[in-house]
Amino acid sequence: MKEEFHLIDQLEMDQFLSRDEWIFLIEHRSDALERYLFEKSEAVRIREYGHDIYIRGLIEFTNYCHNDCYYCGIRKSNPNILRYRLSPSEILSCCHIGYELGFRTFVLQGGEDNWFTTKRMAEIVAEIHSHFPDCAITLSIGERSRESYQALFDAGADRYLLRHETYDPVHYRRLHPDSLSAVHRRKCLWDLKEIGYHIGTGFMVGSPFQTAENLADDLLFLKELNPQMVGIGPFIPHHDTRFSHEPPGTLKLTLFLLGLIRLMIPKVLLPATTALGTISPQGRELGIRAGANVVMPNLSPTEVRKNYLLYDNKICTGEESAQCRDCLEQRMASIGYQVVVSRGDSRNRSI
Ligand code: SAM
Ligand code: FES
Repeated sequence: MKEEFHLIDQLEMDQFLSRDEWIFLIEHRSDALERYLFEKSEAVRIREYGHDIYIRGLIEFTNYCHNDCYYCGIRKSNPNILRYRLSPSEILSCCHIGYELGFRTFVLQGGEDNWFTTKRMAEIVAEIHSHFPDCAITLSIGERSRESYQALFDAGADRYLLRHETYDPVHYRRLHPDSLSAVHRRKCLWDLKEIGYHIGTGFMVGSPFQTAENLADDLLFLKELNPQMVGIGPFIPHHDTRFSHEPPGTLKLTLFLLGLIRLMIPKVLLPATTALGTISPQGRELGIRAGANVVMPNLSPTEVRKNYLLYDNKICTGEESAQCRDCLEQRMASIGYQVVVSRGDSRNRSI
């Protein structure tokens, strides 16, 4: 058997792959290897989570951001977008709509917006928590101090999504301004984990300058951090960024990495992301078949969605929340999977 197939077997048997082995695997992709991988990764996914699909209601509550990530459509120095922030009562009303639609996890995502101080954010979290005690509250609001993370946890937040973006400091530097660093981003993740959050991390696939070596480092980091969730999706250029002419990440490489991550951390939650659905009409369905088990339909008010444009051609910006939920339910049913009403906790509990 060829070496790359053997490496997939090793991964399946929970054996550690070295950096060189990861690079070899990524560089020796072929249609046959993908088929071999997906057969195993879908089987592991079904073993761990059956045919259930967990849904998360995504509330994009602010597109103000004091950061300037070079790839991101809502970064501070983009003058061409209409900025908005939802009021606490608007956020709560999204949760009410979501609850009626069967969501038991709310993901509050936004740019790093100074208006949402720890005090204000904690009040919002506490209010959601008191109205919906049976729901998980996930935050995705970037890098903050350990004290702030602790206060938000104490207020009732259970989970935190913070992609590490890329492990390699040199690659990180090419994607972000000097004020941001890979080391600090990772420190935030370790803080979140120590506090007791269920954490999600991840990276963009095919981001500018990304190499197989970078991806190998990313995978090794995932193994070390052992998060509850890993969010990966293709990089997609935004017309108002310096990377507007860069090629997007590919469907094939994203699916391949989803399969590898499913085998490496069998119990992890893996979303089939909106970005995956954006680069290919069947992207999310294929993501599920490769090993993903979560989808995150949008619960943001329809009128603000087109202003939360991280990248061009983002899908689902014109629909109502109920339409998004129904559409995904049908898409999942079409491939033999069912959306469930559940908090959808990770089975990867080793914190
Ligand atoms: N501000 C929070 C943070 O920094 O984690 C959450 C919002 S941020 C926009 C969420 C994620 O969007 C980032 O972690 C990044 O990976 C992804 N993203 C940003 N621009 C993107 C692009 N052009 N293509 C694909 N994903 C992108
Ligand atoms: Fe802040 Fe993208 S630069 S959310």
